[in-house]
Amino acid sequence: MAFWNRRRSIDLMTAPREGPALKKTLGWPHLLALGVGAIVGTGILTLIGVGAGLAGPGVMISFGLAGLVCACAALAYAELSTMMPAAGSAYTYSYAVLGEMLAWIVGWSLILEYSLVVSAVAVGWAGYAVGFLEGLGVTLPAALAAGPHVEGGLINLPAVAIIAVVTGLLLLGTRESATLNAVLVVVKIVALIVFVAIALPAFDPANFQPFLPNGWGAPTFPFQETLFGIPPVQTGVMAAAAIIFFAFYGFDAISTAAEETKNPGRDLAIGIVGSMVVCTILYMIVAAAAIGARPPAAFAESEEPLAFILRELGQGTAAQWIGASAVIALPTVLLAFLFGQSRIFLGMARDGLLPRGLAKVSSRGVPAVVTIFTAVVVAALAGVMRLDELASLANAGTLAAFFAVGLSLIVLRLREPNRPRVFRAPLFWLVGVICMVGCVVFFFSLRTQTQLWFLIWNAVGLVIYLVWSARNSRLARGEEPAA
Ligand code: ALA
Repeated sequence: MAFWNRRRSIDLMTAPREGPALKKTLGWPHLLALGVGAIVGTGILTLIGVGAGLAGPGVMISFGLAGLVCACAALAYAELSTMMPAAGSAYTYSYAVLGEMLAWIVGWSLILEYSLVVSAVAVGWAGYAVGFLEGLGVTLPAALAAGPHVEGGLINLPAVAIIAVVTGLLLLGTRESATLNAVLVVVKIVALIVFVAIALPAFDPANFQPFLPNGWGAPTFPFQETLFGIPPVQTGVMAAAAIIFFAFYGFDAISTAAEETKNPGRDLAIGIVGSMVVCTILYMIVAAAAIGARPPAAFAESEEPLAFILRELGQGTAAQWIGASAVIALPTVLLAFLFGQSRIFLGMARDGLLPRGLAKVSSRGVPAVVTIFTAVVVAALAGVMRLDELASLANAGTLAAFFAVGLSLIVLRLREPNRPRVFRAPLFWLVGVICMVGCVVFFFSLRTQTQLWFLIWNAVGLVIYLVWSARNSRLARGEEPAA
């Protein structure tokens, strides 16, 4: 089999492992909490402003579209992760279904996703933290409160600091605890409900006119203006959907708990589809309440839009409360993604696609070198980059991974229809196709600059793969028989 096409064997991957099996203790309410906990974060708290700026009130449709694509990706994810529970990421499913080279591209894109989500959420956190501190009468020097893209800004120190704190927790071996997660989920949901309760009485339907000030938007391609003389469209409903997409992912947290689920076939479906439905409805209500209270242009530029709207409504105390909730609850999203990042590195290093030294774990069971290296890079980016730039690039990586998951779902159903499936995605053709088409459309609705960065990142990745990884993988060295 050609090197780029060789696949890992699902049977070997799922062979019984040594050591005690994980206890099956989780039911669907736990999974729902896990999902909502990892999903609700900077997307709804901050990027709602960016989305509203791009699409106007039509951002409501953007939320619906992003939710639909993510729900399909999540169903595909659930089916594949329960078939290959030993691993737990799109990279591994791709390795077993699509072959080594595509798996590399997915893994390399996941590195982009996981790292930049950490940077983006840290910047989102910083926006609320700075506002919260100001509410307490503490004003940070302008140079330390934002990156150089803001006038007078030099470095976003709070964003760097929160990454340092979360990295410290990870190095100490901290894992998300189910109880703490449940409490923080309640904090986040209550904060959003409080926002809606206060903003709704100020609802003014006039703010929804015109509903689509920037239209639907159109796909854009790098260099389209140079090549075809067509200026790129960077606004509209689709451009907003492509960025709002950020608000919905994080549900892979649910599928990684497959082994500990009592009745995975039913509970995973409820947990995954349920958390998507809950988040989509919640997000649309929050968006409607926000736009009803203030026209999109008023809060599009804010770094803490929900708190900003409440302050504009004369509700300073509630704004402080929302700020405090964000400051307390957002770090769990950081913890989940920074942890996930090290797991992707570990997976790729164990398969021999990255130097195996990276897979070394400290005495506390943490891949310390990889974690510290990642943290330094993402903190540097968080210190100087804009939130929307970080989130767009993270989305590009995620879209690549979700596309691969949708494709893997269909390919594996056709190739091995009789392989046992703990959870079967309903209407797999439709689910797979919506997922793939949605990812392609969203990708080409991102800014062309983001698309270019993504392509450059993967071009560098492919060179590394061809020069080094393709020769050093476990399959290449014959350390594991290929499928
Ligand atoms: N969905 C996560 C958030 O919005 C990444 O923060």
